[in-house]
Amino acid sequence: MKTIEVLYLGFLICAVVQVAHSEERLTSNDDINNTINALISSLPDPLDIAPFQFQLNNSIINGSFVSSGLNISGINQTVATYIDVHTAILVGSYNVTFNLKGIDFVLNYTTDVLLGNLLPFFGNGSIKARLDNLTINIYVENHLTKLRNIKVGFSVGEKTNFEIQGLMNNDYFSELINELLSTYISRGIDFLNTNKDTIGSVISSIIQSIVDSIQDNLTLDIDHENVEGFSRTKNIWQQQLHRLI
Ligand SMILES: *[C@@H]1O[C@H](CO)[C@@H](O)[C@H](O)[C@H]1NC(C)=O
Ligand SMILES: *[C@@H]1O[C@H](CO)[C@@H](O)[C@H](O)[C@H]1NC(C)=O
Ligand SMILES: *[C@@H]1O[C@H](CO)[C@@H](O)[C@H](O)[C@H]1NC(C)=O
Ligand SMILES: *[C@@H]1O[C@H](CO)[C@@H](O)[C@H](O)[C@H]1NC(C)=O
Ligand SMILES: *[C@@H]1O[C@H](CO)[C@@H](O)[C@H](O)[C@H]1NC(C)=O
Ligand SMILES: *[C@@H]1O[C@H](CO)[C@@H](O)[C@H](O)[C@H]1NC(C)=O
Ligand SMILES: *[C@@H]1O[C@H](CO)[C@@H](O)[C@H](O)[C@H]1NC(C)=O
Ligand SMILES: *[C@@H]1O[C@H](CO)[C@@H](O)[C@H](O)[C@H]1NC(C)=O
Ligand SMILES: *[C@@H]1O[C@H](CO)[C@@H](O)[C@H](O)[C@H]1NC(C)=O
Ligand SMILES: *[C@@H]1O[C@H](CO)[C@@H](O)[C@H](O)[C@H]1NC(C)=O
Repeated sequence: MKTIEVLYLGFLICAVVQVAHSEERLTSNDDINNTINALISSLPDPLDIAPFQFQLNNSIINGSFVSSGLNISGINQTVATYIDVHTAILVGSYNVTFNLKGIDFVLNYTTDVLLGNLLPFFGNGSIKARLDNLTINIYVENHLTKLRNIKVGFSVGEKTNFEIQGLMNNDYFSELINELLSTYISRGIDFLNTNKDTIGSVISSIIQSIVDSIQDNLTLDIDHENVEGFSRTKNIWQQQLHRLI
């Protein structure tokens, strides 16, 4: 799931990077918004992730996790709520805020692992997660052909939640874990929101370094109306992000 979020973030950044890199130097907010809307509506919804599984073999977690299907819905509802663009001959800047009402994850799983060589942990059921009111701000400066000073900020809403069913194949146990999780998640949301500047600056520098490493490979002649051009950029992102995580 982390991969998906990172890829999604990569997608949004691509959208802004593509707009910033487009040959015609889009200047009107409406043109930029239309380009962004076109890219977003090209995303499938729900995003249906093929079954996958992984096997862990170490003393902390030893066993398997099998997903029979993962659906992510809501990402095509991304809306650019704020667009601020400055174009100049040498340095331009793009500041775009995206908002999502919510992203829902539904995953059916089967797991059988041994934790710490001691605690058996098995189950068959589903995991539901919702990221509520996600706001992502992306700021990019365009210095001639190089992208500089990338800044990413975000916030998540209070209704973000996580629910897991089928743990130990026991409803009572699952409920117990969910209560525990909801406490940790609301603390997690507080943590994210109170530390968003720090976390944002870490994410920004990671992204800047990815962009630096792929700058030379970003084709500068991407036609903003050509979604294929976009998917080329997206593929580069995916490769880079996969290397990262
Ligand atoms: C798991 O690791 C142990 C010890 O490190 C090794 O003996 C065993 O063959 C491994 N099993 C699998 C399925 O990889
Ligand atoms: C993991 O479990 C398998 C079989 O249950 C065992 O053979 C292996 O040694 C375990 N691996 C570790 C690292 O404990
Ligand atoms: C996932 O589980 C739900 C309820 O347990 C079921 O209705 C649904 O068909 C399952 N989907 C897949 C892809 O297995
Ligand atoms: C995901 O969505 C597809 C089609 O919309 C559906 O067939 C599948 O059962 C869903 N999977 C889960 C895990 O809910
Ligand atoms: C997102 O996809 C869903 C399901 O395909 C569709 O009902 C909805 O209208 C789409 N929303 C937007 C904003 O494109
Ligand atoms: C961008 O377009 C969407 C969909 O038409 C609209 O809801 C949103 O307000 C627009 N954003 C800006 C900043 O104009
Ligand atoms: C981008 O715009 C937002 C909203 O107006 C603002 O809070 C933020 O400081 C701007 N970012 C930069 C780097 O100027
Ligand atoms: C998991 O549960 C589903 C229905 O709840 C069932 O169809 C499936 O066979 C179960 N899988 C395992 C490995 O027990
Ligand atoms: C969503 O988050 C944004 C930014 O934190 C906030 O301005 C807005 O009021 C929130 N919307 C809802 C429906 O909670
Ligand atoms: C950039 O492109 C060259 C040649 O096409 C390739 O060898 C290199 O690995 C690419 N660099 C990155 C960071 O993708």
